[in-house]
Amino acid sequence: MNQWGGLLHEFAQWLDLRGVGDIVTLHEGNTPLLHAERLSERLGADVWLKLEGLNPTGSFKDRGMTMAITKAKAAGATTVICGSTGNTSAAAAAFAGKAGMGCVVLVPEGKIALGKLAQAIVYGADVVQIRGNFDRALNLARELTQHLPITIVNSINPDRIEGQKTGAFELIRTLGDAPDILSIPVGNAGNITAYWRGFTQWHFEGLAATLPKMWGFQAAGAAPIVLGHRVDEPETIATAIRIGNPASWVPALEAVDESHGAIRAVTDAELLDAYKFLAKNESVFCEPASAASVAGLIKYGVPKGSRVVCVLTGNGLKDPDTAVSTTATPTVVDATLEALLARLS
Ligand code: F0G
Repeated sequence: MNQWGGLLHEFAQWLDLRGVGDIVTLHEGNTPLLHAERLSERLGADVWLKLEGLNPTGSFKDRGMTMAITKAKAAGATTVICGSTGNTSAAAAAFAGKAGMGCVVLVPEGKIALGKLAQAIVYGADVVQIRGNFDRALNLARELTQHLPITIVNSINPDRIEGQKTGAFELIRTLGDAPDILSIPVGNAGNITAYWRGFTQWHFEGLAATLPKMWGFQAAGAAPIVLGHRVDEPETIATAIRIGNPASWVPALEAVDESHGAIRAVTDAELLDAYKFLAKNESVFCEPASAASVAGLIKYGVPKGSRVVCVLTGNGLKDPDTAVSTTATPTVVDATLEALLARLS
């Protein structure tokens, strides 16, 4: 049998699997790296899209969650908790369920995409909506671990970052080396931290000749790292990255400094333009937050001819409301041939 068996099997040699017994996997990872012809043409560069929305729960969070839940199980945990803008909660609920563990998720009321809420509920998590934002949810989840026998699986849990670094391994494997630039949306700043760890690890192991520049993009209304201070009331249509006080702020800045990269902001309008461009021209339907990685390239440009990978972190199907509310409603006609001929001619 030569079947893909998930990240921990595939990359065991480069992961900290000490103490691990059974691996909890949904065969996450091994996501496509799609060449973006029209975007490449538009930018005068060689642009690739890492389709993380094709993971089992539809986002990159599955990479960190296979590791975090596997480790939590090995340590004897019976229940996990996270604060989430939606994707972490969906992944935590799915992997905890697979492991036979309980899962509590705290999400900001009314500020998580419908598909993500549906996932967490249907996978069987105990979903609690709080009257507060993500930053508050994460703080409360942390505090609860002091009062209840429960393990936190946000990216402040180092096992999450450890699993997520495999995204960088896959890029190096597919391209034969690291790209010149990695473009990635930034919310809680765990993923940019994880990719940098993966790139540097394989570089120092001699498996990649070069290191990429790390380009992170935040939504303008939720851009604490760009502004250099916490944002108390973050606001953006990209609810996944509606975060005002990123937990991995410091390591993210280290990644940017060490790689000679940058973290910059894109407006909601720029992000939605990129979201629509990707769907229409590359046939990739990603989440609004994911499109920040492409919006940033369009806004700021890239050095001609450079090889760039955009990490498209989540699947567009998770957020049908944004898709429908930001595009034209399809016309309605009578159910007759005449009406259709009139409409289509
Ligand atoms: N893209 C999507 C689709 C996300 O869901 C997230 C984060 C990010 C980008 C940003 O990644 O936080 O590592 O910088 N979502 C978290 C959640 C916060 O709760 O699902 P980051």
